[in-house]
Amino acid sequence: MHLHKYEKKWLIFGISSLVVFLIILGFGAFWQGTHPQSHGVTIDPENVEANEAFRPENLGITKVDDNKYIVNIVASAFNYDFGTDENGAPLKHIRIPKGATVLFQITTKDVVHGFNIAGTNVNMMVEPGYVSSIETVMDRTGEYTVVCNEYCGVGHHLMFATVEVYD
Ligand code: CUA
Repeated sequence: MHLHKYEKKWLIFGISSLVVFLIILGFGAFWQGTHPQSHGVTIDPENVEANEAFRPENLGITKVDDNKYIVNIVASAFNYDFGTDENGAPLKHIRIPKGATVLFQITTKDVVHGFNIAGTNVNMMVEPGYVSSIETVMDRTGEYTVVCNEYCGVGHHLMFATVEVYD
């Protein structure tokens, strides 16, 4: 088979680009490993209660200052634990006043999950052994769906909650 000169050049260029790409991908994904965005804080996934923020009584939303709140969540297949209401029923819904500054802190007891408040900039990967956190200002009213955007098993699509920002 006869290859045209330019054909050969482009073929070599194409293959080299692919090799460079795979090296970069391999370095980024495997050599450096993956971490949540805020991977500075580690936690024992078998005993998340050892961290004060993730004790059952501290889950869910807590007012910490004027217009400042903390929301602590424990993710597990296939649930977000926001604590319980006054009747002991699990909370699936949290309410935040408009304009509040909210620090979301989340960890997982089992596998990698996601925590994305659809329509906001809150979008975290939640990895066992780490605490993921993000502080944001909730300045638009509405009801937001929290979705898990990392495939975590057969119940992945059932893993959601809601956040309401009210005036
Ligand atoms: Cu949790 Cu997907």
